[in-house]
Amino acid sequence: MSVIEKFKTMEYGPAPEDPKESLQWLDRHHRRFGHFIGGVWTLPAEGKYFETSDPSTGEKIADVAQGSAADIAAAVKAARKALPGWQKLSGHERARYLYAVARHVQKHARRLAVLETLDNGKPIRESRDIDIPLVARHFYYHAGWAQLWEEEFPGYTPSGVIGQIIPWNFPLLMLAWKIAPALATGNTVVLKPAEYTPLTALAFAEICTEIGLPRGVVNIVTGDGQTGEALVNHPDVNKIAFTGSTEVGRAIRRATANSHKRVSLELGGKSPFIIFEDADLDSAVEGLVDGIWLNQGQVCCAGSRLLVQESIAGKLTRKLQARMSTLRVGAPLDKAIDIGAIVAQVQLDRIDRLVKQGIAEGATCWQPEVVMPSRGLYYKPTLLSNVHPTSIVAQQEIFGPVLAAMTFRTPREAVELANNTVYGLASSVWSESVNVALHVAAQLKAGVVWVNSTNLFDAACGFGGYRESGYGREGGREGLLEYIEPEWFRKAPPIRAKAAAKGGKTEAANPAIDRTVKLFIGGKQVRPDSGYAVEVRGKKGELLGESPLGNRKDIRNAVEAARKAETWAKTTAHNRAQVLYYLAENLSQRGKEITGRLAAAVGKKQAADEVRLSIERVFAYAAWTDKYEGAVHNPPFRKVAIAMNEPLGTVGVICPAHAPLLGFFSLVLPLLCAGNTVVAVPSESYPLIAGDLYQVFETSDLPAGAVNLVTGRAAELLKVMAEHDGLDAIWCYGDAELCALAKALSAGNLKQVWTNEGRELNFFSRGQGGGRWYLEHAYQVKNVWVPYGE
Ligand code: NAI
Repeated sequence: MSVIEKFKTMEYGPAPEDPKESLQWLDRHHRRFGHFIGGVWTLPAEGKYFETSDPSTGEKIADVAQGSAADIAAAVKAARKALPGWQKLSGHERARYLYAVARHVQKHARRLAVLETLDNGKPIRESRDIDIPLVARHFYYHAGWAQLWEEEFPGYTPSGVIGQIIPWNFPLLMLAWKIAPALATGNTVVLKPAEYTPLTALAFAEICTEIGLPRGVVNIVTGDGQTGEALVNHPDVNKIAFTGSTEVGRAIRRATANSHKRVSLELGGKSPFIIFEDADLDSAVEGLVDGIWLNQGQVCCAGSRLLVQESIAGKLTRKLQARMSTLRVGAPLDKAIDIGAIVAQVQLDRIDRLVKQGIAEGATCWQPEVVMPSRGLYYKPTLLSNVHPTSIVAQQEIFGPVLAAMTFRTPREAVELANNTVYGLASSVWSESVNVALHVAAQLKAGVVWVNSTNLFDAACGFGGYRESGYGREGGREGLLEYIEPEWFRKAPPIRAKAAAKGGKTEAANPAIDRTVKLFIGGKQVRPDSGYAVEVRGKKGELLGESPLGNRKDIRNAVEAARKAETWAKTTAHNRAQVLYYLAENLSQRGKEITGRLAAAVGKKQAADEVRLSIERVFAYAAWTDKYEGAVHNPPFRKVAIAMNEPLGTVGVICPAHAPLLGFFSLVLPLLCAGNTVVAVPSESYPLIAGDLYQVFETSDLPAGAVNLVTGRAAELLKVMAEHDGLDAIWCYGDAELCALAKALSAGNLKQVWTNEGRELNFFSRGQGGGRWYLEHAYQVKNVWVPYGE
């Protein structure tokens, strides 16, 4: 073909990246890898290996050790041994190591990019320009946090030995997201890469040796789901950080319920890509190419649900189809390729099965006439239109290059459709009107919103989900909080005796009793559905009154009322602060009578302390309401990322038994301050406190339903709350058994669960009973990325 002809067709020739150096690296390791434990390459205890192969050719690349429980045990032991030495280093000394990692990632960038592409099948253009540079950025950014650790996090302590399990879609990047913050904050790690893509983690292990990282600080054990399970179940691991499928995330939540392991989960998504009629359609189409065809659509935050305004649907579809026809599918090492190979046959089969099911449910399937490679695991870029919102392809994560399209008419309908999913990881909004875009962004239930952009990531901007997309954030300051905890929290002693309700079950309304309280639901005092009450006795065993025994139906009513009280979240922080100040004032006015009544249950001194400190605590959270603010990040692009602190939603709270008034306010107030609505089970030992509480609430300006009180047996009510899909989170204070129950039962819709880990917290201490540690758990961060400039 002549040069002139080439100019006419603009045909690309092949432009393959040279894999020689990476192949030599593999050969230097004889294409057989053991685990990296305690700083040395270790043979697998059971002598088993598995093959890792190139999905674009099916050819074997190397043999990799299959990790057993014994290998995991050895790695955890090495990490534990390395912990004191690593923690003894100053922040500066740790920063130097992280900085060295970043430098060496850059030095070996080409090797790492080629290995990633060989093992995963992603286009070299992506591994070279996106994955590896972001890995380096992550280590640089966290080297900075290590440096600032002492001054920025006084009183905090690292969690300890961290078990990290990562997926195959961004292998080295997910490793960086996990290892960098863990190391920066003084933890040591055992990381298990995904079975399809272990190679770059092994190359990373070599970097750890190169830079002289102390032995055992990073341990890599390769293997499959069983190896992951062994890590999750190992008793000497303090925290599990997981990225992968929602199904495995749920299993991990259940498996760790009966332990003190902290858990962060970054799970699946079905992220909406919303295009309004005033959007720049050509940019939006380019956005879609990045949104759903990046990494063959094997991206947890892929814009896999296209929601397009009806008036422009035809025009957009034509533009999109024209663009799809120019996508080049082929050998991932070719620098001019857009779409590479699918990671494994099982994933390819899954994509195919889901698409067929979508078609059977009425979707129209369109694929461009692109040339497909003759071998390897490939799937054509696919557009499914006329998709019904309830169709499997609109609801389930396909994890492939498949876009499911729907239309909407109004911004309101767009938001409804966008939020009509169990997930909440990310979203893209396209409109030339900043008002429309930000109005919609605020209403989306997702951890990340990209305005007129998509799939942007930066170490400074937290990433993570709402709802069944998991909990916890990676990146940013908030990401560090996953790996640390206040020293006083770690050291708090276990709750001594199980706090049991006093008194037996009686028919309600015994005339001899001086005080009978009710439930408080939707701003009204109501009788319990069961009609039963329990006697409440004082310190000396005297009868103080009766308190209702709430049941499933009462909790259901309370959740319904709380969900309706959404004006509380929507009102301004200034208004919320005024309401809370006023609440403190009311409490103060009733202080004397409340002290008198409470004294019969907890003694005069404690009652007086509880009332005094409660007034102070309510005041403190009123003060925080308009001050616990988000941040504006400046990632290295022409964008700002606005990190907004948003409420969790509706939260179920099991209050401490031992400090009926102060314990209640210590847990419920940070939640209210953040704009959450609450269904609370007051102290099981002294439920009569509910009567005092609702009298204070009734005379305050708190909207009806913002706080609901259901007294009764904590364990029974917790069960109902944890299983209720209408609650977004559970805060449970109780003994170890109750906390384990909260974690296990809430795995269903993956509610966030925060507990005292069965420890006795000192609410009477200002430092331990209130402040940032509570607020950090009462909010979730949403990052809204906004471009600027033309
Ligand atoms: P997966 O969740 O099974 O694998 C992710 C990681 O978890 C791997 O390292 C795996 O070995 C490990 N693992 C598997 N079972 C485990 C267990 N019981 N305990 C501990 N670790 C375990 O995901 P898979 O099977 O590779 O992909 C299935 C689907 O999951 C995909 O089609 C996609 O929808 C979703 N997925 C989502 C990802 C995300 O980034 N959110 C990443 C990978 C998969």
